[in-house]
Amino acid sequence: MSSSPRNCCINPSILSADFVNLEAELARIGNADAVHVDVMDNHFVPNLTIGLPVVERLQKVSPVPLDAHLMISNVDRWAPQFADAGLHSVTFHVEASDAPIKLARELRARGAKAGMALRPATPVEPYLDMLPELDMLLIMTVEPGFGGQAFLDVMLPKIRRARAAVEGSGVNVAIQVDGGITEETITRAAEAGANVFVAGSAVYGKPSPADAIEALRAKGQLAFASKTTTPEPRKA
Ligand code: DX5
Ligand code: ZN
Repeated sequence: MSSSPRNCCINPSILSADFVNLEAELARIGNADAVHVDVMDNHFVPNLTIGLPVVERLQKVSPVPLDAHLMISNVDRWAPQFADAGLHSVTFHVEASDAPIKLARELRARGAKAGMALRPATPVEPYLDMLPELDMLLIMTVEPGFGGQAFLDVMLPKIRRARAAVEGSGVNVAIQVDGGITEETITRAAEAGANVFVAGSAVYGKPSPADAIEALRAKGQLAFASKTTTPEPRKA
């Protein structure tokens, strides 16, 4: 299973980990597909976490790839530096970017997967034409800023429309969801078309984060597979 790329990924968020022991906390999630690193600036969101120097160190010691979620203003200036640090993927908020296409191209040119995030009230439709510029679309399922919030079911239609657009255009763009993902809500998110799941409290809040990852992955894979057996537009 680990030898082939998964179509369904579990990315634990270290926002719910012990910030004094990050290296040890990473070792507890060695079976994750990637580690989700929430960067907050107390400006774009009302919370503050870690910045580039800490992320650069995490990149050096992590047993799994890093998936940065930049909840920061001035993101056009800062995001490329995260790509330069060698991160697997760098996700910026479209609401914080002056030139999202330029930024996505810059991230890819520096060797990172380009992710773009939408706050819950940001519609996906204005951005569908730029899907080929992206490797991942992050649909926030809570207001960004804090872990442990309840999943917003009202986001499910947006996930469905994004999945339909991805399938319809034939591009290879992952759909990530972040916020309130649990063993219960992951099924609904996957059935709607999400295939990369961020989970903070539902992983690090459990006695065995590794077991929690396996349980979430099993549910996500099952629900996503049932979704993708429905007829999709065919590529030529
Ligand atoms: C919230 C962060 C999330 C957060 C999710 O703004 O972007 O990544 O860690 O935490 P849970 O899974 O507990 O909702
Ligand atoms: Zn996040």
